[in-house]
Amino acid sequence: MQNFDVVNPTRIIFGKEQLNKLPQLLNEANAARILITYGGGSVQKIGLLDRIKEQLSDFHVFEFGGIEANPEYSTLMKAVKVAREEKIDFILAVGGGSVIDGTKFISGGIGFEGNPWDVLEKKEGCDFTTAIPFGTVLTLPATGSEANSGAVISRSEFQAKRVMGGPLFFPKFSFCDPTVVATLPKRQLANGVIDAFMHTLEQYLTYPTDNLLQEREAEGILSTLIEIANVVDHPEDYKLASNLMHCATHALNGNLRCGVPTDWTTHMIGHELTAIFGIDHAQSLAVVAPRLWEYKFSEKQDKLTQYGQRVWKLEGDNVTIARLAIQKTEEFFQSLGVKTKLSDYTTDFKECDKTIRSIFEERGWVAMGERQSITPEDVQAIVKATF
Ligand code: NZQ
Ligand code: ZN
Repeated sequence: MQNFDVVNPTRIIFGKEQLNKLPQLLNEANAARILITYGGGSVQKIGLLDRIKEQLSDFHVFEFGGIEANPEYSTLMKAVKVAREEKIDFILAVGGGSVIDGTKFISGGIGFEGNPWDVLEKKEGCDFTTAIPFGTVLTLPATGSEANSGAVISRSEFQAKRVMGGPLFFPKFSFCDPTVVATLPKRQLANGVIDAFMHTLEQYLTYPTDNLLQEREAEGILSTLIEIANVVDHPEDYKLASNLMHCATHALNGNLRCGVPTDWTTHMIGHELTAIFGIDHAQSLAVVAPRLWEYKFSEKQDKLTQYGQRVWKLEGDNVTIARLAIQKTEEFFQSLGVKTKLSDYTTDFKECDKTIRSIFEERGWVAMGERQSITPEDVQAIVKATF
């Protein structure tokens, strides 16, 4: 088993009707001037924003709405300005991964004296060194952002999507109430299942390790997601919804990566497809992953076989099981209504394989994957296979 060093300080308040705990948690965080951040209107529509504001009558509350899916740098910079002017000392993110990620950026940007884009560009010597504390009220189980310290920020004028994070960016607390799932459109539910599934596979579909517990935990999340995937047609079913939310948090709260190799190349390529074509994050993963596994078949075959046997209960010789495991996964994504070819989303894909290869070269991402064996040339071939 590989060594590991892990901490996750985020308090998770899971379940129904727990918002009455919000004032106490804010008091414990010494919050006085609170900025509520949210997206394009779903939290008003489902009455959640009003319910939260009722709980905050003893606090000085400001609002910043309009954070887009794939949160935009320019919008977030407006929030940074508001937060500075109003001397905000706590942020409450109410939304899905985009609002929570955007809030992580805002919390770091408030006290940053240079150009925050330099931080996202990872310019030498540029990093957030302070962050305003924040909590979250999750409305979309998918990214795990409610329980981790990472964020992904977009800047569409540059067709760019950049990652940031670090120990400053764990939420102080996150309210995870599965009843919010009931109002989610099918597309977002399918995205949630696939994103959680792929977070698990990025930390599992590598090579066999002797970390038996971590492998079984990953298989447990994958099997549970398959079992409850009909949540996309029955979002009001609390058993299905609560298991989806629990799985999505567990898939990316830092636990699965303990003592195992990880890949993440599907995510890195997927982020570029979203930046260029605007396709949903989970859709981008469904497009890339099967082609990447086929391309790296010999390196991933042992683990594909284990996955096929344990999760999909496949039988036969090892190579057949490994190939079938890829097919089963792609069919699973399709069964949720998500298409798995880039050409299903855009007719404008030509040359994007070259573009993405150059982006990887420019950023120095020349040795990706669990064996550091995926080069920009391989990335180009994988993207080409998605058309
Ligand atoms: O903007 P509103 O009106 O709120 O609508 C949102 C949005 O249009 C809607 N929605 C959210 N909760 C709802 C709801 N509609 C009805 N009822 C509700 N209860 O859903 C739409 C999508 O929301 P978004 O937050 O964009 O989705 P998701 O949670 O999938 O987040 C995607 C973003 O997270 C990043 C992705 O790259 C993408 O930018 N990721 C963040 C990660 C992290 N921080 O750890 C890891 C991931 O791999 C991912 O990269
Ligand atoms: Zn993801």
